[in-house]
Amino acid sequence: MFNPKTIRQDFPIFSQNPRGEKLVYLDSAATSQKPQVVLDAITKYYQTSNANVHRGVHQLSDRSTQVWDESRATIAKFFDANPEELIITRNTTEAINGVAYGWGDHNVQFGDIILTTLMEHHSNIVCWQELARRTGATVEYIEITKEGRLDQKSLAAKLSLPKVRLLALTHVSNTLGTLNPVAEIIVQARALQPDIRILIDAAQSAPHIPVSFAKLDVDFLVFSGHKMLGPMGIGGLLVRQSLLQSGEMRPWLFGGGMIAAVTKDATTFTDELSERFVAGTPDVASAVGLAAACAYLTKLHMSDVGQHDLELVLYALEKLSAIPELEIIGPQDFSESEVDRVGSVAFIYKGVHAHDVAQVLDSVGVAVRSGHHCTMPLHEQFGWVASVRASCNIYNTTADIDALVTGLAKVRQVFKV
Ligand SMILES: Cc1ncc(COP(=O)(O)O)c(C=O)c1O
Repeated sequence: MFNPKTIRQDFPIFSQNPRGEKLVYLDSAATSQKPQVVLDAITKYYQTSNANVHRGVHQLSDRSTQVWDESRATIAKFFDANPEELIITRNTTEAINGVAYGWGDHNVQFGDIILTTLMEHHSNIVCWQELARRTGATVEYIEITKEGRLDQKSLAAKLSLPKVRLLALTHVSNTLGTLNPVAEIIVQARALQPDIRILIDAAQSAPHIPVSFAKLDVDFLVFSGHKMLGPMGIGGLLVRQSLLQSGEMRPWLFGGGMIAAVTKDATTFTDELSERFVAGTPDVASAVGLAAACAYLTKLHMSDVGQHDLELVLYALEKLSAIPELEIIGPQDFSESEVDRVGSVAFIYKGVHAHDVAQVLDSVGVAVRSGHHCTMPLHEQFGWVASVRASCNIYNTTADIDALVTGLAKVRQVFKV
């Protein structure tokens, strides 16, 4: 049975109280807390299996290689992907850069269009601006409705432009919380642009809802381990196997284990897909930690994780929308059976800067994020200077939302608005 109160006990950070108060952590969209099983898995790896992978003939190196391969398999399975399709990166940002360099530099040409949206995290904008600068392509943006959803007219119009080579789209917006109907959009995009490649940014969906790389029929899918209970410094890029096999997607970092033979003049690379993208010594311990996080989430059942998230988001929306000083950002006009919102609720406190709100909340032990959340184009479009974001994970309860609401009453007292 999914019970956030007992789940919370799995996370040692919640039993630390440096300021003598209970930690109300509502900043999981920035990074999640880590359960003890993840910390233990990392420690155990270093205590029992630490050696470099694929390079030694000794037993410890064999064990480390086995642990690395098993961890990759667990992570890939979590995303319903083949282990050969998984390229380990440091985070989502590095994974998107990998697509820009490893695929974009070889496949995007002058005059092509790279299509993204105005609700993307900067990581899913800047890499494309840079790719456009290198290749002479153009970046186009799908507009957002005032409710915080992708504008269907704009989507259809932009997908009908000539030579749309790539659609790079977030699954869940880290600011609006909007859950985009990616499966439908992928079908629409392929019907309008048969040669298109599609990248889904799953950084904010993978921690909360089931994500199937196989079922989505997508070419690239990126995620960050640290947002889904895993350690910092590890993430992933899933690439459709046929793009790897055909060489359409190529390595973008060179050296180390990916090499077959080197002469003074030239290098040949391994044919093994899972090796071809491993340049240098990989972060085995973090892969072990992320695999432990995936196993932990799988045991909880991602459908139950999603249900818990939904209940918390709806509770937060109900409580926060009753506060007249707040302007809530992102979709709210849904029926309970069609909630297209995941993970977070962001808002503007009228008359008080978001950083001031966050500071008052911090003074009562409530950790939220304030600022533009790396979505400046989105903030600019709506004329927001900054916003406050409360984001949840499996260890949050309605009591955390209540603490946020109580903290907001203190904001009113302090700023007399
Ligand atoms: C939707 C989205 N994409 C990309 C990123 C970048 O993730 P990272 O900093 O782990 O690379 C984030 C981080 O908040 C995000 O929310």
